[in-house]
Amino acid sequence: MTAPIPFNAFADILGPKGMITDPDDIAPWLTDWRGHYHGAAAAILSPASTQEVAACVRIAAEHGVPLVPQGGNTSMVGGATPPSDGSALILSLRRMNRIRKLDTAANQAVCEAGVILSTLHEAAEAQGRRFPLSLGAKGSATIGGLISTNAGGTQVLRHGTMRGLVDGIEAVLTDGSIYEGLAPLKKDNRGYDLKQLLIGAEGTLGIVTAATLRLVPAITRSATAWFGLASPHDALALLRALEARLGPVIEGFEVMAAEPVGFVIDHIPGTRAPLASPAPWNALIEFDLSGFGETGHAQLEAALEQLMTDGAIPLLDAAIAQNEAQSRDFWRIRETIPEAERAAGFPIAFDVSVPINAMPDFMLSAADACIARFPGTTATSYGHLGDGNVHFHVRAPVGLTDYPGWLKTSGEEIRHYVHDLVVAAGGSISAEHGIGQSKRAELGRLSAPARVKALRAIKTALDPQGIMNPGKLIPLASEA
Ligand code: FAD
Ligand code: MLT
Ligand code: ZN
Repeated sequence: MTAPIPFNAFADILGPKGMITDPDDIAPWLTDWRGHYHGAAAAILSPASTQEVAACVRIAAEHGVPLVPQGGNTSMVGGATPPSDGSALILSLRRMNRIRKLDTAANQAVCEAGVILSTLHEAAEAQGRRFPLSLGAKGSATIGGLISTNAGGTQVLRHGTMRGLVDGIEAVLTDGSIYEGLAPLKKDNRGYDLKQLLIGAEGTLGIVTAATLRLVPAITRSATAWFGLASPHDALALLRALEARLGPVIEGFEVMAAEPVGFVIDHIPGTRAPLASPAPWNALIEFDLSGFGETGHAQLEAALEQLMTDGAIPLLDAAIAQNEAQSRDFWRIRETIPEAERAAGFPIAFDVSVPINAMPDFMLSAADACIARFPGTTATSYGHLGDGNVHFHVRAPVGLTDYPGWLKTSGEEIRHYVHDLVVAAGGSISAEHGIGQSKRAELGRLSAPARVKALRAIKTALDPQGIMNPGKLIPLASEA
């Protein structure tokens, strides 16, 4: 039985701007970015301060009303979509969008949860600093959502995931108490690390209201290069060869099969192929040459020339961006792959990691195995090879007319099959997108009992009523 919702009590706290009840205004926030999940909610609570969040959570706890924290709603795993029975309310952090402080001496920014990633990028850049985490959804994804999914993106190779970039956190716990942990302490051994527990918790343990984030100096000299390659093995060898020649200057290293690049060129207006003829595999590399001063580009060119002449890595083709606009064009191809995949018709999408050195083999052997096991399908991948994380996609046979029917009959079998291959390779079924609702059952099926038991114990201890983002992350008893 669902609890009656105390609308008046919420309205008293939030005022007319802070509570949305018009179904037309709520509708866009009830479906996930991929359009796989559709929820229901009678209201969106939209507090403007940490105190308002705390007051809302206290009311929700008192009345047993579940809350679904939501930022930009760009989750790839249905993490921010409310349950379909209408029992929960969405608690949106989008009005909490202040950068409270940007301290260049400390290289830190204190941001509220609803600050959009690209807004932080711009604010840091205006002060000669950078927040070194970026992804295709940067125009919508919020700091609270990025923290709660421990997001990765295209700079993890050098700067790590959100876990390494959050120096302090402020959050409202499930009883409405405020955890004040914004102080950026490098050393703090007061027992369990609540900050790290909340990072990647997908809104199941409380609501992140603000965070102290680490900034790094702006890049003064950079270069962007696109390489055509024969295999992901050559791509990884290229990364290692460049690291050996130039040192730790690689800021981003993304690898893409020909298919997703083709989808971008076909579906995203204003994009064009970076190489004269399509290569089976592509590597997009961003170099931070600031440390080399004036000689940066010359040193990069010399290293590339040497790679070409010694022939150790067969480069099929290469293009170096001649200016910032061209660099942006190259990155736009990479960053719009998810949008292009959506336009081309969604595949069955996997976000997986295996040990880095095993990834090139995995990319090829898993694709071959899938195609052999499910005749007519195609399988390919793209993503963050330097982190041992790719997005592996399986597409339905060409010419198929009943896609929903195919998904119904084959979807689960394909998901199990690929995840089993990942586990056999010592990998993870969620590298960076989280579990949400789409991988909850698979987490249960494939996890050691100790992991599920510990996850449940933490959830029960910190959210005894189960009001925080129910149905996400923690496998049900029937799924473990
Ligand atoms: P939402 O989608 O609103 O929420 C995500 C989860 O966090 C939900 O479980 C929600 O309940 C919870 N949550 C949100 N805000 C809070 C809060 N304040 N407190 C507690 N819980 C909260 N991810 C990567 O890691 N790397 C990528 O390269 C990447 N690229 C992407 C590209 C595209 C085009 C898209 C659409 C998504 C991509 N993602 C990527 C997915 C990524 O997880 C999200 O973009 C981002 O981390 C979520 O931010 P959000 O504000 O949209 O959160
Ligand atoms: C990406 O790397 O583009 C994102 O993680 C989204 C995805 O395509 O899965
Ligand atoms: Zn990714």
